Amino acid sequence: MGLAWWTFANPALRLIDSETAHSLSMKALRGLGESHSGQLLLNSLYKSPELPIEVFDRLFHHPVGLAAGFDKGAEALLAWPAIGFSWSEYGGITRYPQDGNPKPRMFRANRHRALVNRMGFNNPGASSVRDRLMARKNADKWPKSPVAANIGRSKRVPNEHASDDYAATLDILWDYADIFVMNISSPNTPGLRELQGDDSLQSILAACNNVREKKDESKPILLKISPDSTDEQISNSIETSMASGIDGFVATNTTIKRPLPIGTNARKAFSNDGGLSGRPLHSRAIEVISLAYNETQGSVPIVGVGGIDSSESAWEAVISGASLIQVYSALVFNGPSIVSRIVKGLKSRVKESGFAGITEAVGYKHI
Ligand SMILES: Cc1cc2nc3c(=O)[nH]c(=O)nc-3n(C[C@H](O)[C@H](O)[C@H](O)COP(=O)(O)O)c2cc1C
Repeated sequence: MGLAWWTFANPALRLIDSETAHSLSMKALRGLGESHSGQLLLNSLYKSPELPIEVFDRLFHHPVGLAAGFDKGAEALLAWPAIGFSWSEYGGITRYPQDGNPKPRMFRANRHRALVNRMGFNNPGASSVRDRLMARKNADKWPKSPVAANIGRSKRVPNEHASDDYAATLDILWDYADIFVMNISSPNTPGLRELQGDDSLQSILAACNNVREKKDESKPILLKISPDSTDEQISNSIETSMASGIDGFVATNTTIKRPLPIGTNARKAFSNDGGLSGRPLHSRAIEVISLAYNETQGSVPIVGVGGIDSSESAWEAVISGASLIQVYSALVFNGPSIVSRIVKGLKSRVKESGFAGITEAVGYKHI
């Protein structure tokens, strides 16, 4: 099936640089995902079982989706369901096209099962992505499973104009996603995290609500949370967002914190500026999911993301309050079979616990 696919399917291949490996995998997936025979092949290898859950008035075949940042430009939308994901999030998309930070900008710490990245929202810009997605819809190549769009602030737009920038992107992409995630928590756009303050957050969400009110159909708008904010700051953001009519939260984005490195490879990777993802993020992600669940008393859905790489870590996220979960780093380290492995494990946990379905497990830890 060629080197590109082998690169992706073989987590042991660690010799080529991370972004090149990622580009090769994306190319292979895009190719396979677009052809009917490729889809059948992926499906036969990676099909995941059913563990249905209804969230945002939509049926998800199971809770596990692709996290933002993997399919930055929404290029491989049909590949994600074919490798077993029940939903996917494309982006981060910004209003204006941007190259992102200079390379190298993605690093692996293999023994930690962690990545450090400072991509900086490299993407073709909202209008190009919309055109690409319009062509896809017209060609009848739109996935049947839910699609989310991750929206970031353009680097060239100062924070004072951030609300217009987010609203413009939301407006442009409105017809091309079922769910929207406002990302003000990436560590890789200078000043972005300052938008988490009450006034900025309020004005961004108000601008997004204005866009939504003008549309025929309402769609959920979520906020993605930083793991580096204090619990008090997170509680404030949640309170402000709830007062602004937010529909849910994604917990969490990457962290600028670093664990103690094991070995030279990790020491090198961790010395880079950027956001850390993968296993070392998991415990903080669980804390933030729990915090969000308790603050909202389970009244809006939470998407759990951060170091989920097994059915145990996925179960922990669900019982802490996540209705849906996402993975990024585990796909890099374990390959696509991780999706069905997680779903199978979750299914067993549901059964062992005597629940009628996964919905009953959401937030169970707090009862
Ligand atoms: C290379 C890379 C790029 C990312 N880009 C984005 C992004 O554009 N927007 C966003 O909200 N999160 C982005 N993320 C964060 C992921 O969506 C996710 O929150 C984080 O990686 C934690 O999940 P994980 O431990 O399963 O990787 C990115 C992560 C990585 C590794």
